[in-house]
Formats: sequence, structure tokens, C-alpha cells
Amino acid sequence: MSLDDPIVIGTAEVNEVDAVLEPALEPAPVAAGLPSRFACFVTGTDTEIGKTLTSSALLHALVKQGVRACGMKPVAAGAELRDGELHNEDADSLKAAGNVTLLRNLTTPYMFREPAAPHIAAALEGVTIESVPILAAYLEVAAASDAVVVEGVGGFRVPLSATLDTADLAQQLDLPVILVVGMRLGCINQALLTLEAIEARGLTVIGWVANTLEVEMRFIDENIDALIERIPAPLLGKVPRMAQASAEEAASYLDFTGLPNWPAQQTNN
Ligand SMILES: Nc1ncnc2c1ncn2[C@@H]1O[C@H](COP(=O)(O)OP(=O)(O)OP(=O)(O)O)[C@@H](O)[C@H]1O
Ligand SMILES: [Mg+2]
Repeated sequence: MSLDDPIVIGTAEVNEVDAVLEPALEPAPVAAGLPSRFACFVTGTDTEIGKTLTSSALLHALVKQGVRACGMKPVAAGAELRDGELHNEDADSLKAAGNVTLLRNLTTPYMFREPAAPHIAAALEGVTIESVPILAAYLEVAAASDAVVVEGVGGFRVPLSATLDTADLAQQLDLPVILVVGMRLGCINQALLTLEAIEARGLTVIGWVANTLEVEMRFIDENIDALIERIPAPLLGKVPRMAQASAEEAASYLDFTGLPNWPAQQTNN
């Protein structure tokens, strides 16, 4: 080749290499027969609006499908010592609704005694909440289960430390989100702000739940309609006020079957 020869970019050889490489860039097909990998992060419009109830209903429905389902409440504030072990109501409810029992420090890496904002409850015990132990615990929980339901703390932007909040955690876990709306005056605004915050983190709301609070909202159905028009994810159901809240009854009002990766009924276990 002399300096006078034209420079040719994109030779036949290069194109052949491209042609060989291209199929390898396609995502690998999911092997048939692998267990379903449903996982989600449950957040809500506020504290005390039905996140644990919804998470427990999800776990109940997953167990009914015949899969190994485990709940996680990574940060829990408000615990008491019983039989030498710290107990938190949410963590206990999730454990009861799931069917995989793991060490408490995997399902709830951070459990504090004081029922206060997590960063305050943590500071009282000289602890700084960090995401790395939670992410590591999540991987172990996911490895031991077919499905994981992670319940957030309070609303979506609740601080966990000076540099970390619940939204950061959801983003780092990179899970699809289920939004629980506690139906009361002001909830449309709360739901839409939460939706914006979720989407700003690059996360997707895959479904939402309308939960009836103690004092039933006036015009609840009209409010639900307004939310249906504005939330670009399916309403999974409306949970009425139950005389005795249970995961089983709550699940009976909810339809999870359209959620991405929702497992088909397993027959062999
Ligand atoms: N639809 C309902 N019918 C009857 N009781 C309900 C209903 N929804 C929630 N509750 C009750 O209200 C309380 C708060 O609900 P839940 O614990 O699910 O809220 P949360 O959003 O998880 O709160 P937190 O922010 O503390 O985690 C619980 O005692 C729960 O059993
Ligand atoms: Mg809860």
C-alpha cells in the first residue's frame, strides 16, 4: 500500500466481524424452568397508610402461587426487646406473611428502638444508616428466595442519614415500585408528588393501591378516578377498611397478576 492509495474505512473484514458480534449483544434468553424473579419496592404517600398491609398482601399472594417469598424492611424504627430479641411490628408482619425465614439482620439490617424518623432513631444509638449493608443483605435475601418485597420507611423522601434517603435506597436497589395511596383529602397531591420523585430517580411505578384509612374519605371513588387518570400504572385494587386487617383479606381486594414477572402458579413445590 502506497501513500497514494485511498484510505478505505469499513472493510469487508470489519463488517464480517460486526456481523459475527451483533447477535452476541442481544440479551440472553431467560432459561425455561428458572424460578420467577418478582421483586418490588413498596412506598407510600405517607407513614401509617398501608405499606405493611400491602407488602404483606403481596407476600401472601406470592406464597399462594407456590414460590419462596421473603419480605424486607431494611430500616425499622420502633422496636422492643422480647425473648432477648428486638422485634418490630412491620418486620414481624412481613415475616409472618412470607415463607422464607432468614436472620433478622438480613431482612432488617437496621432496627432501632425509638419510633422516630429513622435518622433520629439511628443517631440515638450512635449509628449512621448506610446503603451498602442493605444492598448486601438484599442480595442474600434475593438469593434465598424466588420473590422479594421490600417495604420502604414512611414516604418516599424520608431521610435515612445526612446523605441518604429512602429514594436513594430504592434507586440503588433498582426495583420497580408499588405506590400505596392512603385515601384522604390531599392524597392526590401527595401521590403525584411521590410519582414525580420516583420517576426522577429513573424508577417505574408498576402499580398502585388505594387504601381506605380509618376515617373514610368523602368522594373516595371520584378521588380514585382522578388518580387513575393521572398515574400511568394500573390500579391494583381498592382495599376497604377491614374490621381486622389481614394480609389474606387485603390480598382478596388486589390483583397482582398483571405485574411484571408475577409468577405463574407453581405446581411442583
Ligand atoms: N384498609 C385497612 N383496614 C383496616 N386496617 C388498616 C387498613 N389499612 C391499614 N390498616 C391498619 O393501619 C395501620 C397502619 O397500616 P400499615 O402498618 O400498613 O401502614 P404503613 O404505611 O406500613 O406504616 P409505616 O409508615 O409505619 O410503615 C396498621 O395497624 C394496619 O393494620
Ligand atoms: Mg409499615
